[in-house]
Amino acid sequence: MLGKKVPFVTFRTRVRDGSIEGPNPFRWEDKTSDDYFKGKTVVLFSLPGAFTPTCSTFQLPDFEKLFEEFKAEGIDEIYCISVNDAFVMNAWAKAQDVRNVKVIPDGSGEFTRKMGMLVAKDNLGFGMRSWRYGAIVNDGVVEQWFEEEGFSDNCESDPYGISSPQNILEKLRAAKIEAA
Ligand code: BEZ
Repeated sequence: MLGKKVPFVTFRTRVRDGSIEGPNPFRWEDKTSDDYFKGKTVVLFSLPGAFTPTCSTFQLPDFEKLFEEFKAEGIDEIYCISVNDAFVMNAWAKAQDVRNVKVIPDGSGEFTRKMGMLVAKDNLGFGMRSWRYGAIVNDGVVEQWFEEEGFSDNCESDPYGISSPQNILEKLRAAKIEAA
């Protein structure tokens, strides 16, 4: 994906709407790839599933904690995407008390498939999900790519390291020093 533009898709998000009464004051809001990526430099990280252990214990909370350090390196937003619907992604963000990282629901898997990152996880009863990867995306173009090794269907393990926030931050800092 290095040097390529991220696919243009429409994401079905759920947003809070104070004008809606009752216990579930949310409405649908379509957001496109342009809404998320146009005119910004962002970190995008993608993982196999909301609420899964590595994602909930390390990857999402560590990106959340390191947000200011990413900002200092010129990152405008950090996006967490997963092949999960908006209800699941919002519930996960709430459970994790996420305030800095923005979650993107790719419930249909269209974005992940067009990124070439869709894998079968039927061995876990998950169906089609995302291989774990991270990227620096500048104005919609992938500038740096952090894909875990062993891309495969029904992988027995869950490699995690290359797409960790610590590794991505280190590579961002190194690229800045090299460019200076
Ligand atoms: C994990 O994040 O630990 C995990 C992800 C996918 C499947 C199983 C576990």
